[in-house]
Formats: sequence, C-alpha cells, structure tokens
Amino acid sequence: MDAIEAITTRKALRAFAPDSIEPEKLKQIIDAGRHAMSARNLQPWQFVVIHSRDRIRDIGALCTTGRFVSDAPVAIVVLKDTGNSRWGDIDCAQAVQNMATAGWSLGLGTCWVGNFDAPKISQMLGVPDQWAIFTILAFGYPNSAHPPQSKPLKPRHEVVYYERWGNRQP
Ligand SMILES: Cc1cc2nc3c(=O)[nH]c(=O)nc-3n(C[C@H](O)[C@H](O)[C@H](O)COP(=O)(O)O)c2cc1C
Repeated sequence: MDAIEAITTRKALRAFAPDSIEPEKLKQIIDAGRHAMSARNLQPWQFVVIHSRDRIRDIGALCTTGRFVSDAPVAIVVLKDTGNSRWGDIDCAQAVQNMATAGWSLGLGTCWVGNFDAPKISQMLGVPDQWAIFTILAFGYPNSAHPPQSKPLKPRHEVVYYERWGNRQP
C-alpha cells in the first residue's frame, strides 16, 4: 500500500483480532513516529511499548473514552516532553499520525484515545515528571466481526478554496 492509499483509506480501529503483531512491523510503526516533523527538530516524544496483557488491560480500564485499549495485543503510550517544547502537542500529534498511517499500511489499526487517567497511568509506568502522557495508541489487526466504520468526510468544496477564500473553482 502506498502512502496516498494508506492516508486516504485509514480508519480508526477500536476492535482487535487476538493475533499478535510481528516485531518487525511494530518496529516500523515506532520508527514512523520517530521520523515525524518536529519544531526545531526537538523530537519531544518518547514511546513506551507495552505487550503485557495484564498491563494493557489495566491501562484500558483507565482510558475513559478508550476502553477498547484493553483488548489490543500492543499499546504504545506516547509521552510528550513538557520541558522546553512550545510545539510539543503538535509534534507529538504528527508522530501519532505517522504511526497510525504506517500501521494501516501494514494491515494494522489504531485509534487515538483522548481521555484517560494520566496520573495513574504515569505512576503505573514509572514515567518521570518531565514527561506527560500524550495519548495511548492500541494497535492490532482488525476484528472481522467488528470492522472499522467509514466516517463522513467533509466534501472537498466545503474545505478547499482556490486563490482566494470562497472561490471554489480552480
Ligand atoms: C485528538 C483526537 C482525540 C480522539 N479521541 C478519541 C477518543 O477518546 N475515543 C475514541 O474512540 N476516538 C477518539 N478519536 C478518534 C476520532 O473519533 C476519529 O479519528 C474520527 O471520528 C475520524 O474517524 P477516522 O479516524 O476513522 O477517520 C480521537 C481522534 C483525535 C484526532
């Protein structure tokens, strides 16, 4: 799958097959995150990769809008450097997007989790104070019984203008 196809076909995945993820694929996903753009090239991210079934289940229980995390074979906890990185949120979001797209191109899905008990998860993982939990990406193969659903995309004419705001003709 090429980059354009991965970007335009990717869907949030919230139900996972029980199959484990090949280590090489996981490495490719993490490297995709590491290669994201970042302001001043600060790369203000770290990734905690979790395979432990018990730990993934416990983290999922702390994801108020992402209980599905509990059922994934792998979770990647994305940490953001809170130190000197003015653009840390944006940089980390790009790492997340890269990982989601890379995963999709390899047949794997994930879904951003926006609400979770950050203090408890930080404590569970021993995360130092300087690092904040940005999000948790549960990765896995799609569950054929619950395939990901397409979300409506705003039509091009609503979001694209040419030469001047409001001009819909190229
Ligand atoms: C910043 C952000 C936070 C999100 N938080 C959640 C969340 O807490 N739980 C969830 O199920 N999906 C969450 N999502 C996934 C979106 O609902 C999803 O990406 C959107 O509906 C578009 O669907 P698609 O990813 O399949 O294109 C989040 C996405 C983003 C970008």
